Amino acid sequence: MSILVVGGAGYIGSHTVKYLQEKKEHVIVVDNLQSGHRESINVDHFYKIDIREKKELSNVFKKTQYRYCYSFCYLFFSWRKYGKTSEIL
Ligand SMILES: NC(=O)c1ccc[n+]([C@@H]2O[C@H](COP(=O)([O-])OP(=O)(O)OC[C@H]3O[C@@H](n4cnc5c(N)ncnc54)[C@H](O)[C@@H]3O)[C@@H](O)[C@H]2O)c1
Repeated sequence: MSILVVGGAGYIGSHTVKYLQEKKEHVIVVDNLQSGHRESINVDHFYKIDIREKKELSNVFKKTQYRYCYSFCYLFFSWRKYGKTSEIL
C-alpha cells in the first residue's frame, strides 16, 4: 500500500518523497504546484489538485489506497490572499 504526500512537490515534500522512495515505498503526490515543481519529483501517481477543492481531493481518496498521509502544504501565500486559516481549511 502507498504513502500519500500532500504538498509533495515542494521543498520539504520532495525530499520526503525521495526518502520514502529510497525506502522502497510507493508514493502518491497531491500538489497544486502553487510553489512546488513537478520536475522535482519522480512519481507515477501525481495529482495536480488544490486541497481546498474538496470534491477533487475526495476523488483521490476514493481511488487510492494509502497507509499514511504526510502533509507539507504551505499556505503562506494563501494566507495573504485569503486571510483567515478557517477559510482555507
Ligand atoms: N523549508 C523549511 O526550511 C521548513 C522548515 C521547517 C518547517 N517547514 C514547514 O514545512 C512545510 C512545507 O514547507 P516548504 O518549505 O516545503 O514549502 P514549499 O512552498 O516548498 O512547499 C509547499 C508545497 O505545498 C503546495 N501547496 C500549497 N498550497 C497548496 C494547496 N492549497 N493545495 C495543494 N498543494 C498546495 C505547494 O505547491 C508546494 O509544493 C511548511 O508547513 C513549513 O512551515 C519548512
